[in-house]
This record gives sequence, C-alpha cells and structure tokens, in this order.
Amino acid sequence: MIVPIFNRHICIFDFELHDRFIGRQQSYTIINELLSSPDVLSKENVPDAEGGRALSTVHLCDKYHIPTLLNFKHNILGKWILQRILESAYDLGYDKYRDVRRLKFHRTWVNKMGKNCDALAHRHANEGWTIPHLVAIYYLDVPENSADLIFINDTSSIMRGGHAKDYKEVDQVKVKAKTGRLVCHDAKEFHATSVHKNDLTRTCLILEVGFAPLKQ
Ligand SMILES: [Fe+2]
Repeated sequence: MIVPIFNRHICIFDFELHDRFIGRQQSYTIINELLSSPDVLSKENVPDAEGGRALSTVHLCDKYHIPTLLNFKHNILGKWILQRILESAYDLGYDKYRDVRRLKFHRTWVNKMGKNCDALAHRHANEGWTIPHLVAIYYLDVPENSADLIFINDTSSIMRGGHAKDYKEVDQVKVKAKTGRLVCHDAKEFHATSVHKNDLTRTCLILEVGFAPLKQ
C-alpha cells in the first residue's frame, strides 16, 4: 500500500502469514542466535540508539548477510519481502531510472530495542549517493507500546539529528510498528522512532537495497 508522507510516498505491507509461515521457527532461531552471540552482546549501543539498551548486528553486516542467513530465495517470508520490495520499487518510481529487477542488498542487519530506548533521527543515504536507494524494515516482534517509526520533514542534508520529540508535530508522520509489517522508504528519508515502552523487546530486520543501472 502506498502511503503519502509530506510531498512524497512510502510503502507499507502486512504479511498475512507472519504467524504461521513454513520456516518461521527456524528463521526466529537464526535471528535469536545471532542476537545472542558474544559479538553482539558485548557491543555498546549504536550512536543512534539512546535511553535504553539496544542490540544491533549492523557492525557485523559484512559477516552476517540476513537474506543469505534466512535463505530469502526459498524462505516464504524472504520471497514475500523480495516481492514487496520490487512492488515498492515500481510504486515509488525507481524503475524510471534503475533496473529494479536487478537488486542488490547493501547492508542488512537486525535491531533489538529494549525499554526506554529510541532511535535518533537519521537517513541512510544522501543526495548524490550511488547506493542504497531503498530501505526495507520488517518487524519480527512488536509488543504493545513499542517504538513507532516516525518520518520527519527535513529538507536539509544532515545524516543525524535529534529525538523524534525534538521535531514539531506538523513535521512528523508516524507509522505504527507492527509484527509482520514491512515498511519500504527511500533511503534519503529522515526518520526516527518514538520511545519503546515495554519490558519485552522490539525486533526488526533492516535491509538496505540498491538497484542496478538501466542498460543503455
Ligand atoms: Fe533507519
């Protein structure tokens, strides 16, 4: 589904089979093992995550490639995500200047957010960057009162900003985080999260996507 934000668009999809797809348990086991590895547990919060403990595998993105670990080409969830990324690529107009059928995952990682944590405003790419074009976020575990995704209307080119609450309401669009939800947005979109208010953690996959140049 295409959703307007400011004068642009993002795409939001909900995976109907999230609770019961074949391979679900194995996928969660892989992710949970990854998040409980010493490499992850010993690493401090990324600079974007404040207020509470947050685990991330972003520093290990070269070592652990999420689409490979989860066998995206054969995993039902992976296939669904790949199809939705392609759909988003057309919906958001990347097909006009890139070959969206040939995509490459740039960095991919998992985030696990604890109570009172929020993500500071940031973007994944800037004007003129070659890659990534699109960011896909898939929510694996979202308890009640989780941090929501907040897009911020920011026309500057800063890569990092403040907390979501530092920006005017009128400059924010909130997208509810939800288990089984996929949000695809342009990598240049400035976004943050609200504060996570549950003892249970919130986990999501982050996939940065680049599309190949159009063949002449
Ligand atoms: Fe982000």
